[in-house]
Amino acid sequence: MKTFVIALLAVLAWPLSGVAGAAPATAAAAAAQPAAQTAADFRPADSRSTDLRPPDLRPQFLLTGAPSRDSQDLSGQWTYSKDLYRTGLTDINGWVAKSRMQRYRDVDVAAEEARATTDFYEFDMDRAPQVSIPGAWNAATPAMRHYDGLVWFQRKFKSPAPDGGRAFLRFEAVNYRAYVYLNGKEIGRHEGGFTPFVLEVTGALRGGENRLTVGVDSTHDAQSIPTFITDWDLYGGITRPVRLIRTPATFIDDATLALKADGRIAGEVRLQGEKAAGQRVTVAIGTLASATATTDANGRAVFDIKAPAKLERWSPDTPVLYDVRFAAAGDTVSDRMGFRTIAVQGSQILLNGKPLFLRGISLHEEEFGPNPARNMTEQASRALLTEIRQGLGANYVRLSHYPHSETTLRLADEMGLLVWSEIPVYWTVDWENPAVLRKALAMQAETIYRDRNRAAVVMWSVGNETPVSPARTAFHGAMADNVRALDPTRLVSAALLVERGKENGEDVTVIKDPLVDKLDVLAVNTYAGWYGNDTLDALPGLKWQVPADRPLILSEFGADALAGYRNDGMKKFTEEYQAEYYRKTLAMADRIPTLRGMSPWILKDFQSPRREHPVFQNGWNRKGLVSETGVRKQAFGVLAEYYRGKAAAAGK
Ligand code: GCU
Repeated sequence: MKTFVIALLAVLAWPLSGVAGAAPATAAAAAAQPAAQTAADFRPADSRSTDLRPPDLRPQFLLTGAPSRDSQDLSGQWTYSKDLYRTGLTDINGWVAKSRMQRYRDVDVAAEEARATTDFYEFDMDRAPQVSIPGAWNAATPAMRHYDGLVWFQRKFKSPAPDGGRAFLRFEAVNYRAYVYLNGKEIGRHEGGFTPFVLEVTGALRGGENRLTVGVDSTHDAQSIPTFITDWDLYGGITRPVRLIRTPATFIDDATLALKADGRIAGEVRLQGEKAAGQRVTVAIGTLASATATTDANGRAVFDIKAPAKLERWSPDTPVLYDVRFAAAGDTVSDRMGFRTIAVQGSQILLNGKPLFLRGISLHEEEFGPNPARNMTEQASRALLTEIRQGLGANYVRLSHYPHSETTLRLADEMGLLVWSEIPVYWTVDWENPAVLRKALAMQAETIYRDRNRAAVVMWSVGNETPVSPARTAFHGAMADNVRALDPTRLVSAALLVERGKENGEDVTVIKDPLVDKLDVLAVNTYAGWYGNDTLDALPGLKWQVPADRPLILSEFGADALAGYRNDGMKKFTEEYQAEYYRKTLAMADRIPTLRGMSPWILKDFQSPRREHPVFQNGWNRKGLVSETGVRKQAFGVLAEYYRGKAAAAGK
């Protein structure tokens, strides 16, 4: 019995985060698995120490520059099989699932049934219904609209026989846990709904037809990031593209460059493979500059070159991108990169050394339309970002509350939108649990490794509206330390809660959060005039008491309005109320001396199961400046006019 118990615990021990190696195929193998990391492996760094970081958080494979590689796009029609009782993973008593339920088996069920043996199956992925991938299942059929659990997806694809090189599957995002099998073999797993992961399939890929099966579990719990409590929709599924990528035996796994404050361009290239050491690596920045270096014993080559005199700095007004090409060991990758610097100086935010006001808006990853599937195609993303850049005259977007699609990040580079990036440490997570901290740090690392070549990204946020406590502040402190260790070139912020107090009998809004000592830019969410009992007329007179030595952003403010609900006085949910709320809140904002930007909540109405007023909401959070179909509300014009004034004052 003892062995059984160990096996059960080991099989159920989900890898802590990121991509684990192949999971155990049998209970016995599971029992042999190394014990899951324990609390002793690492503790949240307290606000004073910065050396208690977990072991290296670099994923096993990155394949940076993947979009520049030849790849097989596996988007399209996949079959799917619901598995609400998780029979494909574990049997009723926790043992390994019955083979007749193992959706990932490399079996032609119809052919087997035609042989009329004693075997039988309780699935058939070949004759299962189809769904378009990428895209969340909630938009696929009414029956799947609120399904929250495990679903198996499968597609077959043809591939040339292995050629001595290496083969990888790169998933851009699977929400929330992924179990990946190729031709019946478990390849790996991943936890986290918004970051890419790369699994090597060199040994499992075969010439001819391959059967790829992915179990996707959308359920969140008290130890997931985010937990099961959010203000956005479920969106379970393979929500971003999946590609088969083949590389030479020794290949470029990572390649990054950045412009430093000292005017030099620094970065590194990392090779993987038997011949990774001692390789000559070249990098070329357009036609402006090139450099060479040699990889060390670990396959790492470091660059540090003087920026070319003709290098144009990237900015919203001049979003200049260069084709940067990396070559080594017969492999090449390229990336379109901008070069700029971002810093804070006193209460100013400096872009390329010049003060900046962030004219922004917040955005969820949800395309225009009445039934979004979080399928952020380039066209869908361009539609949203164009409304922000051109419609509002913004130069900044808060990509809330999780890492958005690479497509959106690359469009922000192209269109000149500065980006606030965050992982969904949102409202509350299990602050005391080291395994949860490990997940957060790994999710941050996956995001940073993916996006650190994007000039548009200027801020990494470590949390949103989290209740102050010693454990929470230590957790965020470890996240801030992690960001600075992984990427010292960008700013660190967090969307904090504010408190209302009294000073000399006057009502003041204050930030009482010990986390501010770890942040470069302070950011607060404020909803006076929507939540609470402030009248709109009281807003311009509200006093703020904030640190004078740090820039402040209003990371959120907003009010609901149902598009078209007008001419009913100043009632909440009318367009008139929302417009007047913006006028009065902007008047309040103008009185905050250290205010350096804002990202009002939010560009577009978005789906949220929290919002169920049968007349005004029906499952939509209505704080958008435009409706889910893109109809602009009156408040849209109020903010656009305010940003025109800000741009004119800055001489834009
Ligand atoms: C919060 C939260 C958002 C939420 C918004 C709202 O500040 O950060 O995710 O949607 O308020 O209440 O609409």
